[in-house]
Amino acid sequence: MYLVSAKEMLQDAEHGHYAVGHFNLNNMESVRAFLLAAQENASPIILGVSGGTAKYMGGYRTIADMVTDFMDFLKINVPVALHVDHGKYQEALAAIDAGFSSVMFDGSSFPIEENLEKTKEVVRLAHAKGISVEAEVGGIGGEEDGKISMGECASPAQCEMMASLGIDFLAAGIGNIHGKYPADWKGLNFPLLKEIKERVGNMPLVLHGGSCIPGDQIRKAIELGVAKINVNTECQMAFTAAVRKYFEQRKDEESKGFAPRTVLAGGLDATKAMCVQKMELFGSIGKA
Ligand code: 13P
Repeated sequence: MYLVSAKEMLQDAEHGHYAVGHFNLNNMESVRAFLLAAQENASPIILGVSGGTAKYMGGYRTIADMVTDFMDFLKINVPVALHVDHGKYQEALAAIDAGFSSVMFDGSSFPIEENLEKTKEVVRLAHAKGISVEAEVGGIGGEEDGKISMGECASPAQCEMMASLGIDFLAAGIGNIHGKYPADWKGLNFPLLKEIKERVGNMPLVLHGGSCIPGDQIRKAIELGVAKINVNTECQMAFTAAVRKYFEQRKDEESKGFAPRTVLAGGLDATKAMCVQKMELFGSIGKA
């Protein structure tokens, strides 16, 4: 069992009007939860690794080995891509070397010329090894130090320039943010999404910040060309809530100590259930 590039799975999704879920890894339990969710539901899946997760889980090579060994152990035969999430330039290169099958280079904080130049180089290095590439234009907002910042909406002209570099899929800011959405959030900018799609042709688009977006907006985004949806926060919340519940229900037993595997088992199950719920919403079940 081996990892696959995300290119074909997202082209299939785009043609089939569904989206493949990108689920962020955080620990060993999440690797197991997501692989089982995909296998048991015959769904393709993308496992995302942020720079923070790479540091926590022992680096890109350790993660690539862990995921592929788990795939063998669990007899996973649905398509699985292992993907760098919001990679800095050096992180993208490290993951290419370590055996990842897909990378995101996020140059959205650079001036567009520099973003284009660096993305082009990542495309060259990744494609030489059959690895798919995601690039970003505009910014995805999110919560930092308790404050929620709105992202920067992408310029359709810049999206077109980025798409012409030969990337495989494109993340464009359309009012989406990481984490929870504020009460006064205006929703996804569908006219902008439509315009971007017209400019980039049949290139699959990526929606970051896929947690807590109402189902009707998710379905409309898929209709308009989104083929990859990133989810992290809701899976983290499901994991943490299950672990918290475990302790709340056993307050009286605290003096006995708890077995870590037993504590985390509920978190794993809750993560898997959330992943399946998202696969249902995205329409990827049965598509593997
Ligand atoms: P959420 O944490 O909002 O689900 O976003 C995940 C994401 O976009 C990772 O790139």
